[in-house]
Amino acid sequence: MSPFLLTRTLPLDATDAALRADVLDGLTRKPKSLPPKWFYDAHGSDLFEEITRLEEYYPTRAEREILRARAGDIAAASGARTLVELGSGSSEKTRYLLDALPDLHTYVPVDVSESALTNAAEALPAERPGLAVHALIADFTQTLELPDTPGPRLVAFLGGTLGNLLPGERAEFLRDLRARLSPGDSLLLGTDLVKDEATLVAAYDDAAGVTAAFNKNVLSVVDRELGADFELDDFDHVALWDAEHEWIEMRLRARRALTVKIPELDLVVPFEAGEELRTEISAKFREEGVRRELAVAGLRLDEWWTDTAGRFALSLSTAR
Ligand code: SAH
Ligand code: TRP
Repeated sequence: MSPFLLTRTLPLDATDAALRADVLDGLTRKPKSLPPKWFYDAHGSDLFEEITRLEEYYPTRAEREILRARAGDIAAASGARTLVELGSGSSEKTRYLLDALPDLHTYVPVDVSESALTNAAEALPAERPGLAVHALIADFTQTLELPDTPGPRLVAFLGGTLGNLLPGERAEFLRDLRARLSPGDSLLLGTDLVKDEATLVAAYDDAAGVTAAFNKNVLSVVDRELGADFELDDFDHVALWDAEHEWIEMRLRARRALTVKIPELDLVVPFEAGEELRTEISAKFREEGVRRELAVAGLRLDEWWTDTAGRFALSLSTAR
């Protein structure tokens, strides 16, 4: 049996302090907002897995198609001995990489969701004897302390999750990541692409209402963790395409005027009827934009692969 290690770089009380700070900051702004990482408690991670299986949600299938076709190329180009995966979730698509990398020594899944990490990473050692799995409960927007494992490293950041950061946050994230890479290390990045509005909106507003439940789950997290009295039925899920910024924006819209009490913050938050709270953006990309953002961070884009329908892209870049 190969080793399985779980390291918590986020102390339990740090999570709590960060949630308090984010909720206080976000709900006293205008317009109101909450950062997306708080979607992913155990229930949120389950709902996200359900999203990935929806007919309307094409990104997972498209990215899986590319990974299946290109895993061999990625393995040959990277020669990775350590695979670090940021926001690894269920690690389901990652299996194509794990199976293709002959010299892989350690897999390091990194996620804020402890439940997603334990579900995903505990199964792996039995499936892949000889592979060390070092799971990290960590926030990838904070400075990451990666375990000292053999290079070269391949950092995978899949699922279009980079697009959930605002442009300034993306630049900072990529710069920090680049600073942690050594020459010869590489980045495998999954980015969803700009396409027609109807396809995009449907992917974030499915008929069965799973995405609506996922979006509202952030309110349940604030209720449970901070004693708030958000009623999920008081809010509507909204997904709209912002053509200027080329991103999908997810919001929660108050159905009526109401006030929410958050005892743990000693805060009362008024909502006007129709007032919207922004919960997430999901930016859509074009090849030139991805190339430019990577170049600014000191990464050279070497490969750009899309699925056959041209909906989603995987790019491979190296530290220059
Ligand atoms: N890579 C998977 C999951 C994508 S969903 C896939 O492609 O299907 C985004 C994942 O990132 C979730 O598992 C979520 O818990 C995690 N996540 C979101 N924000 C994070 C952050 N700031 N730090 C670490 N993990 C984060
Ligand atoms: N990274 C995923 C994306 O942007 C996350 C996601 C999918 C998501 N559906 C969502 C986030 C709905 C919030 C709401 O596609």
